[in-house]
Amino acid sequence: MESTNMKIGIIGAGAMGSGIAQIAATQEHTVVITDTHRSALDKSQKGHAKILARLVEKGRLEQGQDHEILRRISYSTNLNDLAECDLIIEAVVENLAVKKEIFKNLSDLAKPDAILASNTSSLSIASIGAAVEDASRVIGIHFFNPAPLMPLVEIIPAISTAPEVTKKAKEMIDAWGKTTVLAKDTPGFIVNRLARPFYGEAVRIYEEGLADPATIDWAITELGGFRMGPFTLMDFIGHDVNYAVTETVFKAFYFDPRYRPNFTQKRLVEAGWLGRKTGRGFYNYAEETDNPQPQKDEELGQHILWRILVMLINEAADALYLNIASAEDIDLAMTKGVNYPKGLLAWANEKGIAHCVETLDRLQSEYGEDRYRCSPLLRKMARENTTFKL
Ligand code: NAI
Repeated sequence: MESTNMKIGIIGAGAMGSGIAQIAATQEHTVVITDTHRSALDKSQKGHAKILARLVEKGRLEQGQDHEILRRISYSTNLNDLAECDLIIEAVVENLAVKKEIFKNLSDLAKPDAILASNTSSLSIASIGAAVEDASRVIGIHFFNPAPLMPLVEIIPAISTAPEVTKKAKEMIDAWGKTTVLAKDTPGFIVNRLARPFYGEAVRIYEEGLADPATIDWAITELGGFRMGPFTLMDFIGHDVNYAVTETVFKAFYFDPRYRPNFTQKRLVEAGWLGRKTGRGFYNYAEETDNPQPQKDEELGQHILWRILVMLINEAADALYLNIASAEDIDLAMTKGVNYPKGLLAWANEKGIAHCVETLDRLQSEYGEDRYRCSPLLRKMARENTTFKL
């Protein structure tokens, strides 16, 4: 299979499907995008025309290139139009039954050597693959939102995926100019697993009354160098979406207390305070003047930052310990996928492994909760006085 001028199929013309279609067509591939709703396809087509025209205005594309790219994309309500595709990426609603039905149909209609991929954020690739007669050609290719702008793509082979398929999928997406990382088929893959404490520990600190959202956001951005604080980010993502992911990950990890969701966010969802999109979440977007100012106390800020950071580091260390990904890919994933200012393992080296272990042990003994248990890898490294090899 050549990595140039292939035929790419996309299923689902929503935010992700449209973004992926734009990338593939910009890479000179012929793209067929399908959706059950004609209105979604029309919206996607209008969106492409608008975005590409803006890229010409900004000088990122040459004059006329927008029309060339648009001509390479066709929009269809008929799944059979994907019959000639070399790579098909599914990006429909996050519902296993819906996805399995689609993959069952692809099993019959796609070319026998076509790679069948899902952009799922939280479902198991093995379960999706089981719907296809030849599961060895099914793989996870997980883009981040907005797909054309975010450099990271997680490549997730299932236990049933052929190594050759993983290699080809990675080569293709690398050729699209993306940074790919390999992740094991486990809940949340790399980014959505490692990022849980960014939200969870921040809310916990707030629930304890240690600081308000504005102060925690200030500590994380101003002192930590993150682009967005956890409360601003949760409001941005939408509490319905963010809470659902937290709940899914918690269940998928057999109720490991490290991933336990919280009532604070549940109540926001129940009240319909979903964040920016409804005008109110942790912050009030209708009356911005209502929002409290951060308490810019450096000592308190550093305490908050370190407590969240050490929990993130613990997740990253545990993911390495459990072979979810390589050390290099773990750090790449967080810097390229969610714009962390530094890789978490590099950060652990900088802060000192022994310091991480001491903090986690102190938290666990104080709270008596398994949530704060230290990764065996960190403990071993502290004992042997080693650092992460990056
Ligand atoms: P979306 O809701 O914007 O779009 C989904 C599209 O799928 C809609 O246009 C809908 O009409 C279509 N659809 C539904 N059932 C269909 C079917 N049976 N056949 C064909 N089309 C169908 O969703 P979004 O946000 O684009 O997410 C799509 C997938 O990507 C989900 O699996 C999601 O978990 C994943 N994802 C989402 C990210 C995000 O930030 N939105 C990031 C990374 C992955």
